[in-house]
Amino acid sequence: MRQEIKFGVIGTSHRGQGLIRQYLKLKECKITALCDCYERLVKQAHDIIGDGNVRCYTDHRRMLREADIDAVCVFTEPERNVPTSCDALAAGKHVLCEVPLCYNIEDCWRMVLAVEKSGLKFQLAEQVRFHPCMQAWKQMVDDGRLGHVLFVRGEYLHPLPEDWFWVDAKTGEKIPLAKAKRHPHKRKGRVWTLEHPIWYLPHELSPLLRVLDDRVVTVACMATRKRSYVYPWFPHADIEVATMRTRKDTVLNLAAGFTAPNYPKIGYGYHWYQMMGSKGSVETPRSNRDKSKMWFADSFMNDPAEATWEFNQYKTPLEALQSGHGGVDYWPMATFIESIIKDTTPAMDVYQSAESAAPAIMAGLSVEQACRCLEVPDFRPNARRKSGVAPNR
Ligand SMILES: NC(=O)c1ccc[n+]([C@@H]2O[C@H](COP(=O)([O-])OP(=O)(O)OC[C@H]3O[C@@H](n4cnc5c(N)ncnc54)[C@H](O)[C@@H]3O)[C@@H](O)[C@H]2O)c1
Repeated sequence: MRQEIKFGVIGTSHRGQGLIRQYLKLKECKITALCDCYERLVKQAHDIIGDGNVRCYTDHRRMLREADIDAVCVFTEPERNVPTSCDALAAGKHVLCEVPLCYNIEDCWRMVLAVEKSGLKFQLAEQVRFHPCMQAWKQMVDDGRLGHVLFVRGEYLHPLPEDWFWVDAKTGEKIPLAKAKRHPHKRKGRVWTLEHPIWYLPHELSPLLRVLDDRVVTVACMATRKRSYVYPWFPHADIEVATMRTRKDTVLNLAAGFTAPNYPKIGYGYHWYQMMGSKGSVETPRSNRDKSKMWFADSFMNDPAEATWEFNQYKTPLEALQSGHGGVDYWPMATFIESIIKDTTPAMDVYQSAESAAPAIMAGLSVEQACRCLEVPDFRPNARRKSGVAPNR
């Protein structure tokens, strides 16, 4: 018999509503409860589902106590992801949490320990790791086609318009800059809490670390001045660029920014990746006229070959092909449900989640400490730390 997992969604704003629309197509996913601090947003999500039996809440603890749910989706501001996810685990619910996991190392540990103690499933909803390009690159790395991966570059330069910076404190509605100046109840939106654009790097690191099957051990980072050149009233850097070294000896050079103008690339949005190994290299498109590229040193190639990595339309479920961000939004939820039903390790478990967040957090600290090179903690249980026990620091 087909098993159905009952979900409560916490955070029904822009991302929450977008994902709810997509999850409605998944047979094993039934959304039975919705929660947001803003009633207006809960109502909008309720209208999207169009089922009078779905319960609505503005207090997530009450939802966790009362609603008939097996699992929750945490789609809140990143600094609220960990406390909210920990409340859900304490209430006995599995958790699918949006990216980035958090903005500080203490929260990484809090999340790791809460999952270890609970025995429940936790998955980060980072979706780029499921991109066909990343699956192809992973196969190439696993097969040794690229040799030892020496150098990886990546960018997530996603410009945000002015009306993403303030929200109405009473309704959660976005307020454009011209109105924000005189608005009596404005509240700084999610972009303001992103003090370091590099803190959003988990979106870039998650697919790369999956391809490399590796973790970052040291990080240093540089930034432009702490006042935007694009929006002079915004007191954060336009660009931050981190250099990282992994445990298996690969150097990464990764940039993030949310203000500088940029153009999206079809299928890749504002992401760009390049990987150079001892035997060859691969790269995603630089523009919409460009193609992905691959080059192998032992194949008599004077120039890289063009490549298109796409989902196989005959083998991929229709609801996946139709999902957001070029067909990848389906996979975090689909694989999460599978891990609950089959009782297997989630596709992006709590260790991989912390390993994608911590290098970005340390990069922000490096900027504050004159680009000092910093070590990234190891979150996995080992001889010095048993599962469920806090590290000696
Ligand atoms: N994977 C992706 O491509 C992608 C894209 C966009 C956003 N995101 C992530 O999704 C999350 C949500 O993004 P957004 O743009 O919708 O953010 P947002 O700031 O617009 O919305 C967050 C919502 O969460 C609600 N909330 C916070 N704590 C709550 C609580 N305890 N109980 C009930 N409601 C609570 C807030 O009221 C707010 O409406 C963020 O973590 C973001 O980083 C990921």
